[in-house]
Amino acid sequence: MAAPSAPYGDVTTQGASTNIAWHHASVDRAARAQRRGHRSAILWFTGLSGSGKSTLANAVNAALFEQGLACYVLDGDNIRHGLCKDLGFSDADREENIRRIGEVSKLFLDAGVVVLTAFVSPFKADRDRARALVAAGDFIEIHCAADLDVCEQRDTKGLYAKARAGEIKDFTGISSPYEAPEAPELRVDTGSQTLEQSVELVLEHLRSAGIIPQAG
Ligand code: ADX
Repeated sequence: MAAPSAPYGDVTTQGASTNIAWHHASVDRAARAQRRGHRSAILWFTGLSGSGKSTLANAVNAALFEQGLACYVLDGDNIRHGLCKDLGFSDADREENIRRIGEVSKLFLDAGVVVLTAFVSPFKADRDRARALVAAGDFIEIHCAADLDVCEQRDTKGLYAKARAGEIKDFTGISSPYEAPEAPELRVDTGSQTLEQSVELVLEHLRSAGIIPQAG
């Protein structure tokens, strides 16, 4: 049997960390998948604030949980209460935010969990870096494609009004760009579809990709 490969390669220097070695786990991802009866994956929801990322990710998560699957939501607003509370909304801070979430998601993947991330993640390069951390097929980009005017009309948190009034700077869609994915695995029109329709689209994609069982 081939020796398990180190997921970052056999390097002993990573950034500021020198003289480090990868320690191989005795329970690996394949063993977890076999025990649990399903694969793990990263479902990367991206879209404007108010586009329904968190709502959709949580509803999909509830459906997966109901089927007995190991799943977890990482939500932008929540993660910024803890792990990323040192970060603001400059381009550099968003890049670091998404870098951390990419790495955390990779750990969830290894832990055999379907992880659903709900971050604006406005920059294509940052999303592509997160994608490049894992193998092809493990990263499923889901664009919550509600138009800006729909998100602004909803304004569930009152942030668009504040951004228009100049009270919030660098606000995505108003004073900071959103780079829509060109070829996401899935694009959901969360502006016009019902939540139930959107959930079913995501679940159907996961079934046809062989990530979750057909039945249920
Ligand atoms: S990201 O750009 O770094 O991916 P993230 O998803 O973590 O953003 O956080 C976005 C959430 O923070 C929004 O849903 C909104 O509630 C809040 N927020 C506060 N300020 C901003 C801002 N300037 N731009 C976008 N969202 C903001």
